[in-house]
Amino acid sequence: MPVTEPETFYITTPIYYVNDKPHIGHAYTTIACDVIARFKRLDGYNVKFLTGTDEHGQKIAKAAQEQGIDPIALCERNSQTFRELAATLNISNDDFIRTTEPRHIAACQALWIELEKNGHIYLSKYAGWYAVRDEAFYNEGELTKGPKGEKLAPTGAPVDWVEEESYFFKLSAFQDKLLAMYDANPEVIGPKSRFNEVRSFVKGGLRDLSISRTTFSWGVPVPGNEKHVMYVWIDALTNYIAALSYPDTTKDFAAYWPNAMHMVGKDIIRFHCVYWPAFLMAAKLAPPKRVFAHGWWTVEGQKMSKSLGNTIDPNTLVGKYGLDQVRYFLMREIPFGNDGDFSEAAISGRINGELANELGNLAQRGLGFISKNLGGVLPGPGPYMPEDIDILKTCADAIAPVRIALNAQAFDKALDAIWVQVRAANGYVDKQAPWALKKTDPARMNTVLYVMAEIVRHLGILMQPFVPISANKMLDQLGVAAGARSFAHLGPAHALKGGSLLPPPSPVFPRWVPHVTEKGA
Ligand code: MSP
Repeated sequence: MPVTEPETFYITTPIYYVNDKPHIGHAYTTIACDVIARFKRLDGYNVKFLTGTDEHGQKIAKAAQEQGIDPIALCERNSQTFRELAATLNISNDDFIRTTEPRHIAACQALWIELEKNGHIYLSKYAGWYAVRDEAFYNEGELTKGPKGEKLAPTGAPVDWVEEESYFFKLSAFQDKLLAMYDANPEVIGPKSRFNEVRSFVKGGLRDLSISRTTFSWGVPVPGNEKHVMYVWIDALTNYIAALSYPDTTKDFAAYWPNAMHMVGKDIIRFHCVYWPAFLMAAKLAPPKRVFAHGWWTVEGQKMSKSLGNTIDPNTLVGKYGLDQVRYFLMREIPFGNDGDFSEAAISGRINGELANELGNLAQRGLGFISKNLGGVLPGPGPYMPEDIDILKTCADAIAPVRIALNAQAFDKALDAIWVQVRAANGYVDKQAPWALKKTDPARMNTVLYVMAEIVRHLGILMQPFVPISANKMLDQLGVAAGARSFAHLGPAHALKGGSLLPPPSPVFPRWVPHVTEKGA
């Protein structure tokens, strides 16, 4: 029989600036990517999942100077905190790239040489408004006025007038090619509102892009003119192909690049959907297959900011509510792509209402009953009634809407589809009331308990991408082998065997109760 290779899938987070401490925004993007990466692996794909840190540029150099340390020392220390965050969040990344690594620097220089060779780079003089905080240039017309009449970027960042020699990328030559690319692939940018935003920005005309600086040196040297370092965005974006061993395009690049997806926040869409595809086309490489831009979180109705002191450290959040609870909340609370608000009321409502009362209780009711009344031995089913057949079938079929939703990055819709089953299952249990059958019809009771166990097996398998530790605990309690947890194991062909002794059950999703001090008492 011919062996077919599994389809590949490549997913990336933005690389995070090391001048900042990780906050809920970073955790959000990374968790979203992790859910997709896990989902695709369980769905049979060969996945590569990349995250990492963005370590060059004036902003980092300035932060290091303020702290009286070498830029590289700052990078080492803070890159480590992002690595640790990934571990804390149980992120299944296959690689972690740092832009100060030799493989990354080599890829940037190779890309530069390619762009230059293809006639897309020229040396000129730059004069314009630059915001260090955004690492971006602005037109006079884009600027706003601050409270003291000072000029500000549209993001509110201070701007400086800079005049210097600079290399330029002929972005203006890519307007038509970009528009044609968007129109031929409407799926290339999600959600649709962002697609429209990017398209109309490009339609409005593109100016050539300054891609080197001479006023600082913390960056990748421009090949052949070491007075210049590369502009941070050409450097940063290249991480996605550096991790595929670019400029070697024969191995990982050939395998993964055709199925690449970048997950980004809405603030960096222009870089990913305009500059990046243009750089790639200029190097005769394909643009990424899809870029999805998610929204931003506010905290208790307020914008997160260092000065307000309301940035949320994901470590604190996980310590307080539990890891899978935080992962579930972030994916469940808002339609992906929209902005959302983080509040204690919202997260505790989801934990108690959905995870504890609905999913956790469902698992606990069946398994607790089997443990107490049947010595922990899973009963075999007797003849099925139509309602048994019905619920087993809808559970097995739930993968279809979940797959459609996750392939469109609609995490909330995927969870909605799973929750239709969770609620149907609780309705089934209430109606069948196996505890009432103990004396009257033990054979029927056994069938109902078996069906409940099968439902929990299906929900456990489906929930793995979202709440991997808890879902696997559910599957452990059913004695499901580690190798029998992929989506190929949904359905009756891999059903549990009646008569097996189950491990003692323990609650998977405890209720969240605020501590007395947190209530302000
Ligand atoms: N280094 C660049 C990305 C380069 S990718 C080639 C960068 N880094 S960042 O650390 O500032 O931001 C990383 C991500 O965090 C962005 O996608 C941004 O949208 C996201 N978030 C920052 N604050 C956020 C919220 N309040 N809410 C949700 N996401 C937010 O940009």
